[in-house]
Amino acid sequence: MMQHKNISWYRHTVTRRLREDKNRHKATVLWFTGLSGSGKSTIADFLEQKLYDMNIKTYLLDGDNLRCGLCSDLGFSNLDRKENIRRIGHIAKLMVDAGLLVITAFISPYRKDREMIRNLFNKDQFIEVFINTPLSTCEARDPKGLYEQVRSGKLCDFTGIDNKYEIPEKPDIQLNGEESINKLVNNLLDLLKIRGII
Ligand code: ADX
Repeated sequence: MMQHKNISWYRHTVTRRLREDKNRHKATVLWFTGLSGSGKSTIADFLEQKLYDMNIKTYLLDGDNLRCGLCSDLGFSNLDRKENIRRIGHIAKLMVDAGLLVITAFISPYRKDREMIRNLFNKDQFIEVFINTPLSTCEARDPKGLYEQVRSGKLCDFTGIDNKYEIPEKPDIQLNGEESINKLVNNLLDLLKIRGII
C-alpha cells in the first residue's frame, strides 16, 4: 500500500503512555487466530466480560461484525483476506494508541499477514493467541451451518477445507479450544498478569 510522501505522523500531547497511566493498565492487542468454529468469538467475548468487570478498558473486534460494515466490500479470496487483516490491524493499532486492551477474533489464516500485523506494534503490544481446535470439532460444532454448506458444494474457498490455514509457528500462547471456557479465559488472564498488562 502506498504512503503519500507529503504526509507525516503528528505526535499529539495526550499520548498512549498517559492514557495507560490513567487507565492503570497497559494497552495491547490479543490477536486470536484459528479456524471458523474454533471458539475465537466465544472465548474473546467471555474474556472481555471478565476484563470489563475488572475495570479494564477493552474493545473486541470480531470478524463477522467487521464484515458487516467496514469490510463489507471484501470476500474470501487471498487478497481480500489480506486486506481485511490489514484494515483490522490498523484499527487495532489506533485503539492501542487510545489506551485500550484490544481483542481481535479473525481467522487470519496466513502467516505473512499475521506477521505484517505484528510488525505494526512494539514487541510487548502484540500477543498472538492460537485457538487450536481440531477441524473435526469445528465441523461438528458448525455454529453457522457453513461446513455443511461446504460439504454439499454450496460454499467454496473455506478455511481448513479448500483454503489453507497456516498454523502459527511461535504463538505467544496456544489454547486447546476443546477445554472449558473458564479454564481458557483464566489462562489468558494469567498471561496478561505475567506480562504486566493488567
Ligand atoms: S479472515 O480469513 O479474513 O480472517 P474473518 O475472520 O474475517 O476471515 O471471517 C470469517 C467468518 O466469515 C467465518 O467465521 C465464517 O462465519 C464466515 N465465512 C464465510 N465464508 C467463509 C470462507 N470461505 N472461509 C472462512 N470463513 C467464511
